[in-house]
Amino acid sequence: NKKITIAIDGFSSTGKSTLAKQLAKHLGYVFVDTGAMYRAVTLFAMQNDFIAIDFFDKQKLIKSMSYIKLQFQFNADLGFAEMYLNDINVENEIRKIEVSNLVSKVAEISEVRVKLVEQQQAMGEDKGIVMDGRDIGTVVFPDAELKIFMTSSLLTRAQRRYDELIAKGDKITFEEVLKNVQDRDFIDSHRENSPLKMADDAIEIDNSDLNREEQFQLVLDLVKEHT
Ligand code: C5P
Repeated sequence: NKKITIAIDGFSSTGKSTLAKQLAKHLGYVFVDTGAMYRAVTLFAMQNDFIAIDFFDKQKLIKSMSYIKLQFQFNADLGFAEMYLNDINVENEIRKIEVSNLVSKVAEISEVRVKLVEQQQAMGEDKGIVMDGRDIGTVVFPDAELKIFMTSSLLTRAQRRYDELIAKGDKITFEEVLKNVQDRDFIDSHRENSPLKMADDAIEIDNSDLNREEQFQLVLDLVKEHT
């Protein structure tokens, strides 16, 4: 079988990463969660006081971009790669609501996007990759053989994310999570640079009423059609 590039885009908390991980494992492909990269840049900006809820020094972040080293390191116990920011494992920190609340502002900046897209394209040079994000089928890999666009109802998505955070022990309210998911979707789909939108040749999957296994089988059939 020839190796292909699989692009998975969609709204926040539609289960893109879960599906992408499952596919990559099954196919022996590399999995890349591009959201983790935008989250790590956001964490860097927070650590250096470039950004807070009511403040953002974009110029300082742009000037510091060359000091940000992002790497994925495979964790054999978990079965997927974890995000490292300047050689420190930040996988847990980048998933916290504080980062989620600021990441879309960082992702609007074209200098940030250009740099991350360049790295993402380099990771996909040899194909055999499943990448998830917001602009993978439109900007990063416009020639990807298979493009999936995932959607599901806002309440389903907020509930999933809420359950995930509670399971991790975060103290958070459902309203907070709902607002975050809603705000991010709005900013992500209305920004000037690479807004979230479905590629013309993408296949839309609404998984509001699909369980994980049903969704996986559906996409696996699509993969077979494209290889
Ligand atoms: O996928 P995840 O929800 O972790 O992404 C976090 C944020 O990173 C998104 O809300 C979006 O603002 C940004 N992002 C992006 N382009 C991507 C991946 C993520 O703008 N390819």
